Amino acid sequence: MPLVDVDFPEPAEALPRRMRALVTEGERRIRAFIDARGGAVAGFVPSDFERVAQVLRAVVHQNLAPGRTFCEWGSGFGVVTLLAAQLEFSACGIEVDPELVEQAERLAADFEMDVEFACGTFVPHGGEDLTDVPQEFAWLLTGAACGHEQLRVDPADFDVIFAYPWPGEEQVVEDLFERFAATSALLLTYHGMEDIRLRRKVAG
Ligand SMILES: C[S@@+](CC[C@H](N)C(=O)[O-])C[C@H]1O[C@@H](n2cnc3c(N)ncnc32)[C@H](O)[C@@H]1O
Repeated sequence: MPLVDVDFPEPAEALPRRMRALVTEGERRIRAFIDARGGAVAGFVPSDFERVAQVLRAVVHQNLAPGRTFCEWGSGFGVVTLLAAQLEFSACGIEVDPELVEQAERLAADFEMDVEFACGTFVPHGGEDLTDVPQEFAWLLTGAACGHEQLRVDPADFDVIFAYPWPGEEQVVEDLFERFAATSALLLTYHGMEDIRLRRKVAG
């Protein structure tokens, strides 16, 4: 089933205070985490949380999503998942790096948010054939436990799925979404400050 682009007029006003607080604290912890590991963490680069938050707000304000369930594929520190939860999505995240899952859970606990993160792969059973990326883009780890299974969910349960794919992985994320997401669900992808895309899976 094809994906079609969806326009999202972004809110002109600043983020509400509680979302801003989460973005600021998430960014602070990520800086400290990366610095403590010599300036880089393999496979992990955070998205621009403020920008992503504004697009999620647009999704809510414009009523673009068919419902309020959200999953972040490759959730890193969990900030986007928690921002979605602040917007009253029933939100969860799937992340393959256990250290990042631990950080995401700590951030959720410190903000007193009841949000679940699975440590595993977002590649659902039956999607492995779509993950054949060149070696240099092999961040998209396969072979890990299935994150959806751990969360007792199916990719088709989500109204919005967010991912920040590495270059070379975009097609994989798109193909997985096309195969496994529900019709009418939204795929929000971050590709850098100037490139954030919102697409909908449509029938036919
Ligand atoms: C570019 S980072 C983005 C992190 C986060 N989504 C954000 O916006 O800040 C991509 C994340 O996906 C994770 N990842 C890569 N392949 C994965 C997979 N197959 N399943 C789950 N997580 C994966 C990486 O460990 C990394 O944390």
